[in-house]
Amino acid sequence: MSSPSVRADRTTVLTDAWRAVRRSAVAFKWLVTGLLIGLLAICVLAIVVLTGLLCIVGVGLLLIPAMLGLVRRVAELERRRLRVSGHPVQMPYDALPRGVREAWRTAVHDSTSRRDLKWLASYAVVGTFVGGVALQVVANAVQALTFPAWWRLVPSGDATLVNGLVSVSTWKGAWAAMAMGAVWLILAVALNPMLLRMQSAPGLRWLPPDPTLDWSTRVAELTATRAAALDAHALELRRIERALHDGAQNRLVTVAVLAGAAQRSMEHDPVRAAEILERVQSSAESALAELRSVVRSILPPVLENGGLDGALSALAAQSPVPARLSVTTGRLPASVETTAYFAVAEALTNVAKHSGATRASVVVTTQGEMLQVLVEDDGHGGAQVREGSGLAGIARRAEAHDGTLTVSSPAGGPTVVEVKLPCAS
Ligand SMILES: Nc1ncnc2c1ncn2[C@@H]1O[C@H](COP(=O)(O)OP(=O)(O)OP(=O)(O)O)[C@@H](O)[C@H]1O
Ligand SMILES: [Mg+2]
Repeated sequence: MSSPSVRADRTTVLTDAWRAVRRSAVAFKWLVTGLLIGLLAICVLAIVVLTGLLCIVGVGLLLIPAMLGLVRRVAELERRRLRVSGHPVQMPYDALPRGVREAWRTAVHDSTSRRDLKWLASYAVVGTFVGGVALQVVANAVQALTFPAWWRLVPSGDATLVNGLVSVSTWKGAWAAMAMGAVWLILAVALNPMLLRMQSAPGLRWLPPDPTLDWSTRVAELTATRAAALDAHALELRRIERALHDGAQNRLVTVAVLAGAAQRSMEHDPVRAAEILERVQSSAESALAELRSVVRSILPPVLENGGLDGALSALAAQSPVPARLSVTTGRLPASVETTAYFAVAEALTNVAKHSGATRASVVVTTQGEMLQVLVEDDGHGGAQVREGSGLAGIARRAEAHDGTLTVSSPAGGPTVVEVKLPCAS
């Protein structure tokens, strides 16, 4: 019988082995994704070379903007792969210029585009090759491990291993192949994490922001959004102050005046005093109701209890125009949820007030690290973001989060209000 310490050692070895297998399986998943991106990178690299050649005869110049757009898309795919596999690679792009001359200037001078092109060239080779090696090792392991199960079922010449390099025709050879399969498997478990590091290296080198980049634009942007955040904050305070002043405060003044009148009437006209006290009570109740609604408008309690899904369900259910709701996100930072909530509340109020729509839909999803809120209606269109009104307030709230508001509302409809908010926590 084995002693407890030997059993504990064995358990530790088994746990370590299981952990290594899991790590390797996860690495393999990202290696295969990387291989697909590598194949895409080869195609885009071919387009880049072709565009370069066509530039000699002039036509290529017209293709540069589209080509740069393609390069950005594959680079973004790789950034996303790196992010979800645990490397926080961020790189917000400036919009691509429209004209041919500006696009050419971007291709030559913009350090981000140059770095993307360098990544494309290195990744098309390294990423694809390394991904191919990982796939080959795992394919060899699976093929060899299952060899005894299928080698008799295929024509004798087809019972081969390692892409036809080794041919087996006896049972002894089949069992040896299976043993070889175990070796391939161990090799895959040991190699995959290292191969993933190799495959990610070009992306980690070229896809983050250029360390020598001029950050002044970004700083200016952040200063502007901080000012917008402070503005939104001041506006919100003013709204709360107005709501308290015009609502609860007025009611409480009435309560005080009526209470004084009731006190004076108490001795000589108790019946009138009782009447006045009744009015005091109803005014106090309205003051309470006003206060409750103001408090609710600061951070709706339904949001805290039921999350975005619950809070939006309540909004959709109250909407006079029937609204379909789809929310596919979990809990998000409270400030993001609040902004999304108020955006949907404003958009649905607008649908009811202005659109003449018969149906509306609210779709909330996350795309990578962005929360996307879409409110659509089938009304007559014509929505505009006007300074000082509801949609402008939502735009300011979104900007304060480094997010955006986009309104598409052609005459005749439909109206689509889209709010995008970064939601990485
Ligand atoms: N869904 C919609 N369909 C058609 N028109 C719309 C829609 N939403 C807004 N609009 C138009 O755009 C204008 C601006 O909307 P916004 O929400 O900014 O202001 P408002 O609703 O008029 O005022 P507030 O929101 O301050 O009460 C509205 O006055 C309306 O004419
Ligand atoms: Mg409005």
